[in-house]
Amino acid sequence: MKQISTTAEMHAVRRSLSGTVGLAPTMGYLHAGHVALVTRARAENEHVIATIFVNPTQFGPNEDLTAYPRDFPRDFALLAEAGCDIVFTPSPDAIYPPGFQTYVTVEEVAQPLEGARRPGHFRGVATVVAKLFNLTRPTRAYFGQKDAQQVRVIQTMALDLNFDLEIVVCPTVREPDGLAMSSRNAYLTPEQRRAAPALYRALTVGQEAWNHGERDPERLRGRMAEVLAAEPLALVEYISAADARTLAELHESASGNVLLSLAVRIGRTRLIDNLVL
Ligand code: PAJ
Repeated sequence: MKQISTTAEMHAVRRSLSGTVGLAPTMGYLHAGHVALVTRARAENEHVIATIFVNPTQFGPNEDLTAYPRDFPRDFALLAEAGCDIVFTPSPDAIYPPGFQTYVTVEEVAQPLEGARRPGHFRGVATVVAKLFNLTRPTRAYFGQKDAQQVRVIQTMALDLNFDLEIVVCPTVREPDGLAMSSRNAYLTPEQRRAAPALYRALTVGQEAWNHGERDPERLRGRMAEVLAAEPLALVEYISAADARTLAELHESASGNVLLSLAVRIGRTRLIDNLVL
């Protein structure tokens, strides 16, 4: 596996590649959810590029940018094992050199849910992903359903800005007790870790209600709220039943696909999860 850290070298190496290229963008501290993206990219493309970049522009002033966990040696071993050919690990200065002033803003799908609680987050995500698309010119780019709104933001950006590539959405990889894998799970104390599966339990209760014919979005949110209220360590930020395409919160009886999603604080750690009905 080849490591690249400058944009000039990334462009040069990309120019030398012919055939299909799969891209898996990450912020590192990899787990089985990230590895699944690389494994899928390996199966579907001639060349596989992963990126590790803790993107400062998608973190708010009171978020965990400096504390974000990092472990390059372990990440490289996992990527190599999953069949990655190239790992791109730019510095913040390489991506945002002095004078940088161009950002990508996706409008409607970036506004509710995470967008409302993390102002500027999706502007940072869309900007860095657009840059990574230009640097690696992938045939296919792989993203996790774990970050459902991020997927909608990137799909919208790719369509609106005519990126000639396919966005592949991969299922959420979970721990045996249902907790969605996340680099941020590393922040949880053992007691908090035991409380964390409440998110997935709440989502599955919502899904069961749906499977039993419940179509009232307010009642779906209510069922999820009951489950989370029973977990004393869980502090709810939002509970949503939204249109899976537009992400608009539902108030009438739902017809199309519904995205159930949650953001919950457990101690200082903010966890998100979702299920599509
Ligand atoms: P990061 O949180 O490192 O996630 C990288 C990719 O892995 C994203 O597409 C995310 O949805 C996916 N992923 C994370 N946990 C997952 C899980 N449990 N199952 C399946 N996929 C999972 O998302 C980002 O980084 C950044 O915003 C990024 C897109 C790299 C832009 O900076």
